Order: sequence, then structure tokens, then C-alpha cells
Amino acid sequence: MRLAGKSALITGAARGIGRAFAETYIREGARVAIADIDLAKARATATELGDAAIAVHMDVSQQESIDRAVSETRAAFGGIDILVNNAAIFTAAPIVEIDRADFDRVFNINVAGTLFTLQAVARQMIASGKGGKIINMASQAGRRGEPLVAVYCASKAAIISLTQSAGLNLIAHGINVNAISPGVVDGEHWDGVDAFFAKYENKAPGQKKREVGEAVPFGRMGTAEDLCGMAVFLASTDADYVVGQTYNVDGGQWLS
Ligand SMILES: NC(=O)c1ccc[n+]([C@@H]2O[C@H](COP(=O)([O-])OP(=O)(O)OC[C@H]3O[C@@H](n4cnc5c(N)ncnc54)[C@H](O)[C@@H]3O)[C@@H](O)[C@H]2O)c1
Repeated sequence: MRLAGKSALITGAARGIGRAFAETYIREGARVAIADIDLAKARATATELGDAAIAVHMDVSQQESIDRAVSETRAAFGGIDILVNNAAIFTAAPIVEIDRADFDRVFNINVAGTLFTLQAVARQMIASGKGGKIINMASQAGRRGEPLVAVYCASKAAIISLTQSAGLNLIAHGINVNAISPGVVDGEHWDGVDAFFAKYENKAPGQKKREVGEAVPFGRMGTAEDLCGMAVFLASTDADYVVGQTYNVDGGQWLS
């Protein structure tokens, strides 16, 4: 019960990694707002997770939606102690095919969505005088470029940088901002990634997943559950002295 009495807002928690974090936080004693653009799925997830979960509609690319979701969560829980900026989308294309509208969409969700959700929650954490924990989702894709994944990689590099700046700025208010950098995590997200590579690298469905899994030093793709220990650590008082860091939880794919 390392998060007993805490309340958390997790964006993009209707499925995948965010959902696994929500389940784990509840097991550790927290109440969790499952915030997602897909309200029906967020509701179904909250119902499955039980009384400690609520569903909140949130589109992190829209400021009014961020503000509404943050105030709904505050009203339900009396405050927000933990924010996980997890919502993001993936895109891939060769440089000469990158579409400006797609770039704007990815940066609005992955980068502006993370920054302005962090800002809205940090304001209320500062007003409460109690500090808090903010965890951003980076990626190994943010550690280096990839030939077909320029826009997503750049959006995740921005998360690593924003985590450093926000971490340095907000620690004076007792708010720890850190990030998790996963490698390749199996799930619906990677079904989409696999389909992109099937198109651009002429691979059979499932082939890219197999190849990336075999390339992980640990010997397989990650699971959402592999990330939960780090997500609890960064949300707990054990991480009070940890500021602006991005932790690789990737089976040994990136060493830093
Ligand atoms: N799966 C991986 O291999 C992997 C690797 C590295 C990093 N990550 C990162 O981890 C996080 C979670 O990944 P996942 O695999 O669970 O993804 P996912 O696609 O399974 O889940 C993302 C969730 O975000 C929601 N969402 C999308 N746009 C939104 C918006 N505008 N506002 C609010 N919610 C929105 C979706 O409805 C979905 O429920 C993402 O930040 C992703 O970039 C994933």
C-alpha cells in the first residue's frame, strides 16, 4: 500500500500501459481517474477496476478538455497527488512523405498535451501546498532517431527535455517530475506499429514484432506490467530526491 490515501490522474488509461498503471496504483491504495479521449472505454475500464476508479473524458490536445478533466478529478478526489502523462499517438513515414497535419496532430497530443496537462495539475499541486509526483511517458524512440519514425521520435525526445526543465522548475514546490522510457511493449499500440512496418518495410503481419522482441537483450518484448514497478516507485515518497530523470525500463535496449 505504498500509495495509500493518494489520488492519481492517468491520461490515456482506458487501455494498454496506462490501464496497467491504474490497476497497480489502486492495488497500492490510490484512487485513480481513468482519463481518455475514448470515454466509453474509460468507463468500461473504470468499472472493471472497481470503486477506487472513476472515468473522465479528456482530449489532451484541447486546453478546455484538460482544464475540465483536471477539475472533475479534483472535485471527485479533493485534489491530485500524482499525474501520469501517458496519452500519446504513434506515427511513421519516410521523411519525404511526412505530412504537416500529421506532425501537428502528433505534437499537439504527445508534446503540448503532456506540457499543458502537467501545467494544469502543477498549478493545483502548488495551490494545495502539498507538492506531488508527475510522471511523463518518454520512449527509447526519444533517445535516438529512426529512419521511418522521425516525428514520433522527436516528440518523445521533447518529453525527455520537458521532464528535465519541469523537474528543475517544480522541485522548489515539492513536485517531482520524472519520466519512464519504455522500449517495445506488446499491446494494441504495437499492433498499429507492426502494421506501419508491414506497409513500409514489406513485412508480413507480426514479423516486425517478432524481430524487435528478439533484438531486446532481455530476450522478449516488454509487457505493460514490466513498467509498473517504476511507475509506483516514481509516484511514491521513495522518489522524493529524484528530479528530472528519465528511466529506461526496456530490457536493456538503451544504456544511459
Ligand atoms: N507500447 C510501446 O511499445 C511503447 C514504447 C515506448 C513508449 N510508449 C509510450 O507509453 C504510453 C502508452 O502507450 P500504450 O502502448 O499503452 O498506447 P495505447 O495506444 O495502447 O494507449 C494510448 C491511450 O491513449 C488514448 N489517447 C489517444 N489520444 C488521446 C488524447 N488526445 N487524449 C487523451 N487520450 C488519448 C487512447 O485512447 C489510448 O487509450 C504512450 O505515451 C507511448 O508513447 C509505448
